[in-house]
Amino acid sequence: MISEKLQKARDFERQYQHFLDEERPRFHVTGGIGWINDPNGFSVYRGEYHLFFQYHPYSTKWGPMHWGHVKTKDFIRWERLPIALAPDTEMDQDGCFSGSAIELPDGRQLLMYTGVCKVRRSDGVIEEIQNQCIAVGDGVNYEKYEGNPVLDASDLPEGGSEIDFRDPKIWREDGLYYAVMGNRSADGSGDVLLYKSEDAFHWTYVKKIESCRNEYGRMWECPEFFPLDGKQVLLTSPMEMAPVGLEFHAGYGALCLIGTYDKDNLVFHRERVQSIDYGLDFYATQTLEALDGRHIMIAWMQNWATTTSQPQGIRLFGSMTLPRELSIRDGRLIQNPVRELENYHGRRVAYENVLVDREVNLSGISGRVLDMTVTVHPANESGYHWFKLNLAKDGEHCAVIRYKPGANTVRIDRTRSGGRFDIVHVRDFLVRPQQGAIKLRVVMDRNSIELFVNDGEQAATFLIYSTEEAEAISFEADGSVLVDVEKYDLDL
Ligand code: FRU
Repeated sequence: MISEKLQKARDFERQYQHFLDEERPRFHVTGGIGWINDPNGFSVYRGEYHLFFQYHPYSTKWGPMHWGHVKTKDFIRWERLPIALAPDTEMDQDGCFSGSAIELPDGRQLLMYTGVCKVRRSDGVIEEIQNQCIAVGDGVNYEKYEGNPVLDASDLPEGGSEIDFRDPKIWREDGLYYAVMGNRSADGSGDVLLYKSEDAFHWTYVKKIESCRNEYGRMWECPEFFPLDGKQVLLTSPMEMAPVGLEFHAGYGALCLIGTYDKDNLVFHRERVQSIDYGLDFYATQTLEALDGRHIMIAWMQNWATTTSQPQGIRLFGSMTLPRELSIRDGRLIQNPVRELENYHGRRVAYENVLVDREVNLSGISGRVLDMTVTVHPANESGYHWFKLNLAKDGEHCAVIRYKPGANTVRIDRTRSGGRFDIVHVRDFLVRPQQGAIKLRVVMDRNSIELFVNDGEQAATFLIYSTEEAEAISFEADGSVLVDVEKYDLDL
């Protein structure tokens, strides 16, 4: 049965979404209209890839959360489906928060999400509590399970907060269902809790799989836990991070813990902790295992700290990153754009060994919807101080990616990219020394830049705000470098 609230949201989206088609990025997921945040339910269903997302269609501000819905066969072209969930039951009346999805053996699709509802305490204070709920459907329409909530405060470990208990990520393993979710523990910081179930409807608490202990931020949102290239990976998005060198910045972060998993005792041994993305607009990751076994990650291409700094007059706020293939190399998380992007490569313009010792423009190298790889080598033994890749440029605007070989740092800088708010515009991060050489792959989709350094060793994602007339690209160096450039327009 489709509730009145869900029908209203569906009708609203259907009525207005086409007015925004000119404003959308070409291949990054947005809502039909209004606000989106976290990716949800990124999963395979009946041979296609489904993606849901936190959605408030009625305005560009966060509001009572619905689940928007799209699907794809290739991670690049997406088909919009009717809104899947509205906050229309007692258990989720104040929002259907983030969660995940799985295909059941009987062919139905199960959504596991956080229901938020207000309760009045005995002292009269109203609090929002979080519990885990289920809805089941056919890939378009979903029925909420009559046994909701399937997990509530009574399923928490001692000291666990029912106010911060959210974002279940479900998977199936050895004939059982498991789910991890975030919880705030008695020390005020995040825990990742593991639950299990025989049928995906009846759940029991197993144990804490990892704890933040106030070291990497505070509350850990949107956790997930999966094997990758012989290691075990825990991804989570911490709130209130403190900066550590150039690895972690203050605020909302995206964290990757790599280690091993002792499955018999359900113990995760942490070996390494790193940022997932070193840019400005990246939060709340979600992954799936593709039909060919690749682990693909998507995230919200935004940052909670800047959501109130919206350009005037916009009607769409929030989009997803390009889906990225994950792997582990030398103990580090590696990310590269999904290979399907190459199917949309259009006109190719390439140069080899171009001497850059001042600002250089190259004929045919410009644009705002493109996939470009720039490889930089020192031109002589005296090396160079910096190399700059200037993007989205006109007389007034320029988004800069700068590499300093002496410090092994890359800087992204959107100070002059049309933004009119005093928010963070610059970020530096460390890259691995390569004797003065660096490879920068840039994927641009109108107002977004996703940078992949040295074949995916680091990624840095950021939005820019200049209009699309700012489309020049130039290369600049202090010192002398030789540059190879391969640029494809994206035909989308
Ligand atoms: C992360 C998050 C989740 C929550 C959702 C609410 O961005 O705060 O923890 O489920 O957004 O929209």
